[in-house]
Amino acid sequence: MRCILLGPPGAGKGTQAAIIRDKYTVAHISTGDILRANVKNNTALGMKAKSYMDAGELVPDSLIIEMMKERLSRDDCKRGFLLDGFPRTVSQAEALEILLKDLEVELDAVILLEVSDEVVVKRLSGRRMCKQCGAIYHIEFQPPSKNGICDKCGGELYQRDDDKEEVIRQRLAVYHEQTSPLVEYYSSKGLLRPVNAEQSSDSVLRLIEQLFGKD
Ligand code: AP5
Repeated sequence: MRCILLGPPGAGKGTQAAIIRDKYTVAHISTGDILRANVKNNTALGMKAKSYMDAGELVPDSLIIEMMKERLSRDDCKRGFLLDGFPRTVSQAEALEILLKDLEVELDAVILLEVSDEVVVKRLSGRRMCKQCGAIYHIEFQPPSKNGICDKCGGELYQRDDDKEEVIRQRLAVYHEQTSPLVEYYSSKGLLRPVNAEQSSDSVLRLIEQLFGKD
């Protein structure tokens, strides 16, 4: 399985990718998670990326492409990968094509998780994440058993800095302007597989599995 999970912020890319990674042992590569880890560790990349992320803007393509070149060349990608949050611009998609050509592999599909802007705002304003293991929760839709504590590792849950309503609206605007052209880009290559992602997480997973003949 070599796939891209495409969709607006809050569509459920991270949620679905984590389930698929655990069930089918493929590498889950989330550019957002890699960037947040760099910010947390005060690396040079993290320091450059932070202001863009806090403002809901995209981190410059050159930084992202360099980061993904290194990540995709690691051994765990040989069994397959799920790209979550990359590519996000046509230039990133073109760079990905070159990276995959160099690695002599091809994409199987681009799964487009479709949700409306209003659902995005509701999902992201209620999202909580684990500081330790990165597990994703929602105060209403996927609450932890104990308030503020991760079910998986006991870590503390927090709200991402960019999950404030004004930043969410900006991220949505950036998605519509800079990322949505990828829908046409991948559709014209016959790779796009749209999925209605305004259903329960289990139903969305079933639809994705059907695409791969794994239901
Ligand atoms: P990133 O971390 O990639 O954020 P994003 O794309 O905005 O996506 P999210 O993580 O917000 O949402 P998601 O679709 O994964 O939803 P989730 O599963 O968590 O990027 C952050 C920033 O990094 C960017 O703004 C940018 O600055 C930078 N960046 C990253 N990649 C970049 C790139 N390639 N180029 C340039 N800059 C880049 O779900 C959301 C919530 O909904 C959760 O609470 C979850 O529990 C709930 N939920 C999920 N599914 C369902 C469901 N079916 N029903 C009900 N609730 C659900």
